[in-house]
Amino acid sequence: MLRNMASLTVRQLDDALKEQLRRRAARNRRSMEEEVRAILRSAASDVDAPASPPESAGLPGAPPRTETATRRILLIIGGGIAAYKSLDLIRRLRERGFGVRVVMTNAAQQFVTPLAAGAISGDKVFTDLFDSDSEFDVGHIRLSREANLIVVAPATADLMAKIANGHADDLATAVLLATDKRVLLAPAMNPRMWSNAATQRNLTQLRSDGIAFIGPNQGEMAERGEHGVGRMAEPLEIVAALEGLLAKPKAQRPLAGKRVIVTSGPTYEPIDPVRFIGNRSSGKQGHAIAAAAAAQGAEVVLVTGPVALPDPSGVSVIRIESAREMLAAVEKALPADIAIFAAAVADWRVVETQNQKIKKGSGQAPPLALTENPDILATVAKSASKRPALVIGFAAETEQVIQHAKEKLAKKGCDWIVANDVSPESGVFGGDRNTVHLVTASGVESWPPQSKDQVAKSLIARVVQALEKKK
Ligand code: C5P
Repeated sequence: MLRNMASLTVRQLDDALKEQLRRRAARNRRSMEEEVRAILRSAASDVDAPASPPESAGLPGAPPRTETATRRILLIIGGGIAAYKSLDLIRRLRERGFGVRVVMTNAAQQFVTPLAAGAISGDKVFTDLFDSDSEFDVGHIRLSREANLIVVAPATADLMAKIANGHADDLATAVLLATDKRVLLAPAMNPRMWSNAATQRNLTQLRSDGIAFIGPNQGEMAERGEHGVGRMAEPLEIVAALEGLLAKPKAQRPLAGKRVIVTSGPTYEPIDPVRFIGNRSSGKQGHAIAAAAAAQGAEVVLVTGPVALPDPSGVSVIRIESAREMLAAVEKALPADIAIFAAAVADWRVVETQNQKIKKGSGQAPPLALTENPDILATVAKSASKRPALVIGFAAETEQVIQHAKEKLAKKGCDWIVANDVSPESGVFGGDRNTVHLVTASGVESWPPQSKDQVAKSLIARVVQALEKKK
């Protein structure tokens, strides 16, 4: 083709070179596809190889290409030795009429090639979050939108950790963070990695985030002499699990459609422009409650005093400083189904806040006349028109914790009091753990010491139970 180069213009030369490269690439792709077909034919010859006639777009016997299939699976292949089984999974899915689109992590490409996955899926394989071809043509949002379900196989320990913590630094994790589709994980890893506390923590988190799992199974590992729980589920088991998930609609989260108001943190009561009366509340417990309610599908309004905490995700946050501002924000957020008052509201404020900084030097300390703040919990619990169905208060006590909590339940007119010991020895203020007693009209439940996150989850679980009983 390039023999008469001298007689060609630069443009013609360019076109001729492009054509030659295109043909060479097509030849290479065809030979790779042949190779992959041969591998799969020999691997599948002993099982149920399809007898149907070849279909033009992909492998012999494969069903229509992704875009024409009515049930579409986005398969994310993670980096593990089990990735080779994912090629068979693609074939099994296509035999059953699924359209399969594949995303591969960088690590996955150490085990199987995008070319092989593409030849079997009959579609382009997506690998790069910042690939100008894929990101602008079929970006991570569209990859999720165009799938009925996402399967991650193999799901490595690293991928599980990233998903559990909301990372999105590559295409696979960005798709998983952006999706609202059901996600099925087929973990595969060394048994010691599977039983490691970190992986088990991530597993609990992912399950509570609504992610479904298949496997891992018990058996021999790829490494010689390694045996235990960690083998990826077999392709047909994964197919059965995803068919089961597609058959039943995503379970509604138990607080979906419920509006929850949570107060959190301290209040600051101004003395003058630079001084205030405050307290040591960190807001950790209230924020954890807001997050736990949102995780169960509630629409959450968090009214918080000054804290050094990030906003919980999926929660509307209203920042205030004083008790009166907190009351106004709560009243504005009403009506609600549930109100949980975890804020450490200052009991008193100064009667007259000074507009200028109070100067020392007069020889006398300034008289700070105090007046009581409105009780936000009692105001809402006793509201005739806007009382939420369930009103929960907290009682931070340094002595006779349960006795004082019972008195508070009656005095404030709320349904439950979560009582905790905040004496300096307890380390509750500012700490990550809490020991609480749930005081209700029917009695006292003492919970074991646990993290504030766990207290929040347990409290929200009790709220869900209480709402179900009322149905
Ligand atoms: O009276 P005490 O401050 O111990 O009551 C604690 C409970 O009442 C907590 O739920 C707290 O958020 C709430 N509270 C309130 N407004 C106040 C004082 C306390 O909502 N002014």
